[in-house]
Amino acid sequence: MDLFEYQARDLFAKHGVPVLDGDVIETPEAARAIAERFGGRAVVKAQVKVGGRGKAGGVKLAADPADAVAKAEAILGMDIKGHTVNKVMLAQTADIKEEYYVSFLLDRTNRTFLAMASVEGGVEIEVVAEENPDALAKIPVDANEGCTPAKAAEIVAAAKFPAEIADQVADVLVKLWKVFIAEDALLVEVNPLIKSGDGKIIALDGKVSLDENAEFRQPHHAELEDKAAANPLEAAAKAKGLNYVKLDGEVGIIGNGAGLVMSTLDVVAYAGEEHGGVKPANFLDIGGGASAEVMANGLEIILGDPDVKSVFVNVFGGITACDAVANGIVQALALLEEKGEAVTKPLVVRLDGNNAELGRKILTDANHPLVQQVDTMDGAAARAAELANK
Ligand SMILES: Nc1ncnc2c1ncn2[C@@H]1O[C@H](COP(=O)(O)OP(=O)(O)OP(=O)(O)O)[C@@H](O)[C@H]1O
Ligand SMILES: [Mg+2]
Repeated sequence: MDLFEYQARDLFAKHGVPVLDGDVIETPEAARAIAERFGGRAVVKAQVKVGGRGKAGGVKLAADPADAVAKAEAILGMDIKGHTVNKVMLAQTADIKEEYYVSFLLDRTNRTFLAMASVEGGVEIEVVAEENPDALAKIPVDANEGCTPAKAAEIVAAAKFPAEIADQVADVLVKLWKVFIAEDALLVEVNPLIKSGDGKIIALDGKVSLDENAEFRQPHHAELEDKAAANPLEAAAKAKGLNYVKLDGEVGIIGNGAGLVMSTLDVVAYAGEEHGGVKPANFLDIGGGASAEVMANGLEIILGDPDVKSVFVNVFGGITACDAVANGIVQALALLEEKGEAVTKPLVVRLDGNNAELGRKILTDANHPLVQQVDTMDGAAARAAELANK
């Protein structure tokens, strides 16, 4: 989960990373009191989860409180690379002498954590990495040792920070590492980290991405979620503990096992090319033990998606055999009927693997008018695509 800048700033402050005072607002008039609190001047910054806000006109300096209101008014509602600005942060103005870059991230390729640092900050770091790779120091950080003061000094030396600020930057790195570990982040980035006129090192802009797999031990992270941007179907699926991702097609997909569901998306997209270009409407993995309840929950989410025109249930029986899945489907349809959410869209079911014969017989005997069976994955995908295109 990516955070807004103001949320990153709050986490920085919590762990002692030096930041400037700031406040987030949603209406222009609210800017006045904050600018007054800062002594008149303020930087007005669009809060969107996309880079390059400054260049897009989303970061503006306000000279006085009235100007802060005007700048907030101009930035609120702005569209930055497809993201609407609903919030702006007012920050104290900094007297910037130098702009640097520092970050910690998970380096999946090398199976380690990585520190990156450069004295050429403020600009897009991707450009520095491309045009002047030597200016971007990359130092692996051992997961067990972490960013100790010695490691921080190594990073500072590798990036060639000037001697007079080396200790301060190292200290910021140690604290930033605390943010990274304590908050279970996948990325913490400061760009720019600045040296101010009075020689202080301050994090002026922050980017933090949190690891959602750590949610269970980070209960306070739930508050950081951008509810306004969340997809309602995904939110409902999450509440039911389902592995669901909304996509923009018409064929609802239910499968058991992430690998099978991924390949189901592929075959449906491929089959869709013959049927008006229909595509998968979602990813949904109901996992190994596909009980009637899980199946009913999954069907409920998918059938509640107005984009869905047909549903493809693709199950390969393993430890949970096909007869159990077939019973799950029959009971799920009955459950939904009881709840007054009777199935109105066609369901194509393909059962294969353990006890497939028995599973198919159970569905045949149940004889639900909207359920049809196709024995092969390709055939079922084609049928589901055809039905979605009707
Ligand atoms: N509080 C501040 N005081 C003075 N100048 C600032 C302040 N905040 C930002 N700036 C200036 O504006 C530039 C851009 O700001 P910032 O880094 O926050 O946004 P951005 O880099 O455009 O956005 P993103 O990081 O999303 O790409 C900074 O490099 C800095 O020069
Ligand atoms: Mg920036």
